[in-house]
Amino acid sequence: MRSRGRFVVTAALPYANGELHLGHIASTYLPSDIFVRYLRLKGHEVVYICATDDFGTPILVKAEKEGKTPEEYVRYWHRRDAEDFEALGISFDLFHMTSSEECVGFAQYVFKRLYENGYIYKKRIEQFYCEYDKKFLPDRYVIGTCPYCGAKDQYGDGCEVCGRVYKPTELIDPRCAICGRRPVLKETEHYYFRLSSLASELRDWLEGNEKLQPDVKKYVLRWIEDGLEDWDITRDISWGVPIPLEDASGKVLYGWFDNHLCYISSTLLYLERKGIDGKEFWNSSTIYHFIGKDIVYHHYLLLPAIRIAMGREYKLPDYMPTRGHLLLEGRKFSKSKGWYVSLRDFLNRFDPDYLRFYLASITPSGQNDVNFEWEGFKAKINNELVANIGNFVYRALIFVKREGGVVPEPDGFEELDEALVGDLKNSPKLVGDLIERNELDKALKEIEALSSKCNGYFQHKEPWRKRRGYRTCLYLSINAVRSLAILLFPYIPFSSERIWRMLGLEGDVASQSWDDAGRLGVKPGHRIGEVSIPFEKV
Ligand code: 2FM
Ligand code: ZN
Repeated sequence: MRSRGRFVVTAALPYANGELHLGHIASTYLPSDIFVRYLRLKGHEVVYICATDDFGTPILVKAEKEGKTPEEYVRYWHRRDAEDFEALGISFDLFHMTSSEECVGFAQYVFKRLYENGYIYKKRIEQFYCEYDKKFLPDRYVIGTCPYCGAKDQYGDGCEVCGRVYKPTELIDPRCAICGRRPVLKETEHYYFRLSSLASELRDWLEGNEKLQPDVKKYVLRWIEDGLEDWDITRDISWGVPIPLEDASGKVLYGWFDNHLCYISSTLLYLERKGIDGKEFWNSSTIYHFIGKDIVYHHYLLLPAIRIAMGREYKLPDYMPTRGHLLLEGRKFSKSKGWYVSLRDFLNRFDPDYLRFYLASITPSGQNDVNFEWEGFKAKINNELVANIGNFVYRALIFVKREGGVVPEPDGFEELDEALVGDLKNSPKLVGDLIERNELDKALKEIEALSSKCNGYFQHKEPWRKRRGYRTCLYLSINAVRSLAILLFPYIPFSSERIWRMLGLEGDVASQSWDDAGRLGVKPGHRIGEVSIPFEKV
């Protein structure tokens, strides 16, 4: 990494149609937030972007069911999500909306570019149409029996029971999702994106990019070998980005055409508000898109294909950290079956940092699924956060507090002290390298190992016996608490700021430098602040 680099980091956009749950947090929002907080401490220029994904038939169907306009409906969820993200400490620079003027305008601009470059063509197709509602019925507007497994009441875009994807016209016994009547087939014109023509450029891009996750790359390359189909990017509904062509009135773009473009348009907006040339920034940045493995197809194929078709006016991603699903007690999260934990419910009961700590420590860097277990949560918090980190922080601080609250002048260094100084000195690089490699769970383990060493050191030195060198022990322990506060900041920012205040240090952790965690920044004579127990058991 350059000494002062530029980064654009995005987190996959949540659909504006329901509560955020722990699955989204573990795969996408927490990993990206930890990474961004680290980059900021390293002094890099970072833009961290997200937005609600507002368009699409499921949202329109739900809004209609609730008797709301789609605008009202998505605004409600946007506000809810923004509150929940804030409560968890997810620190987006901008949390925008795909239905905003900027994102809609940019998606239309891209559509036009692609159209002019010959990547979009028109085709007549047959689609379901409800003569009663006078509507074409794309995707979730049709319900019927799955043609593959026979499961009843499945949507037109895929079966939730067997996981197969199909066209609405393949459903057995199709019916309109609004009125329940049988639809008819009717001709309509749709726009298609020539994905098939980009196969070799996509292959070159994937093969040439060493930074993309190899396991994901392998199966995406296999999809390309199997053949890519052109992609229907039209929906005959009222809620979406209007297709910017005269003879396309009443038609909108499919949500997966425009949503990822909002990564770019929101970045531009954020930077332009600061008077910075957004395009120049984007193209000179390292680009990260954090996603869950269920949207690999869209991010590893459609997204780069559209950027290539635009003539690479905006550079393609460098990294796309892709994580697996979160299971709840061994079973897949499912909103429809009520088997999930919403973020809001969780935060109503527990400290946000407890969730951050637990999820960060169980979520690996690859695509393996992760299991959320209540017992595991309790054990992690009580045995690691409380018994290791909390114990050391509190012991060191309260000891000094009881001795008058002033950090003493060291009285001689012996081997144990030198070893601790060495460990502190090495820690920013050791932990930072792991974070840069996206091994966030391992990086946290390293911080815990450092804290364990600190506990051992304190125990060994027995400062309560006040032998020669006990002042050095207190001096170094307080410094170690400071180092830990900085190193832990990306993971548990609220607690780390609290510890900073207990240390009585100026400013906040957010404005410190990461590498400074390796130095002895608290000087003898410094007066620490009010001390309280940093973490309570659950
Ligand atoms: O799968 C989803 O939840 C989508 N809303 C993710 C969109 S990410 C992006 F590309 F905009
Ligand atoms: Zn109908």
